[in-house]
Amino acid sequence: MNAKDCIRTRRSVRAFTDRETEKDLLDKIVEAALYAPVGMKMYDSLFLSVLPSHAAVGKFTALCRRQSGDESADPVHNAAALIVVSGKRTSPVEYANSACMIENMLLAATDLGLGSLYVFGAINATHGTPYAKELADLLQLPEGFTPLGSVALGYTEAPLAPRELPNRVTGVRFIK
Ligand SMILES: Cc1cc2nc3c(=O)[nH]c(=O)nc-3n(C[C@H](O)[C@H](O)[C@H](O)COP(=O)(O)O)c2cc1C
Repeated sequence: MNAKDCIRTRRSVRAFTDRETEKDLLDKIVEAALYAPVGMKMYDSLFLSVLPSHAAVGKFTALCRRQSGDESADPVHNAAALIVVSGKRTSPVEYANSACMIENMLLAATDLGLGSLYVFGAINATHGTPYAKELADLLQLPEGFTPLGSVALGYTEAPLAPRELPNRVTGVRFIK
């Protein structure tokens, strides 16, 4: 898929099927993350954790359910894989770095015919709670790393075709 079609095809998918995602596809998606721009070349402050199956993602979903007290919560919508980007710091540039990696992964997934979703809320909700340590253990994070964002992945029955979208931002102004 060319870049323009890929950008137009990417969309947030919130309904994944029970089909597992092949390991070679996950490898390609991780590789795309590693090509992202990283502010001040702080590569050593980033860490990726791959939960590669429904069973592994289920551990994350179970943690979210315990934390929220909502037994039916599914912030990753039955995803077949979840890739979490963590940082050594929680500075703005670290979040920007994670977002660049995540967008690369969203586009790579789209190119491979997979549905994808940027999942931030459920990750952020663990910060400063007793579940932060449990999540760090699940993600096998090095000491001091904090999860900054994630991408949920999987097959979907949602149509993945280029969209025509209206301008969704407040404005676009070319300044003379
Ligand atoms: C930084 C960021 C955080 C997001 N967090 C979540 C999230 O936690 N859960 C969710 O369902 N969608 C999340 N999204 C997806 C947005 O809701 C989505 O991109 C937006 O509604 C536009 O829809 P589109 O992705 O289909 O173009 C997030 C997107 C970004 C960029």
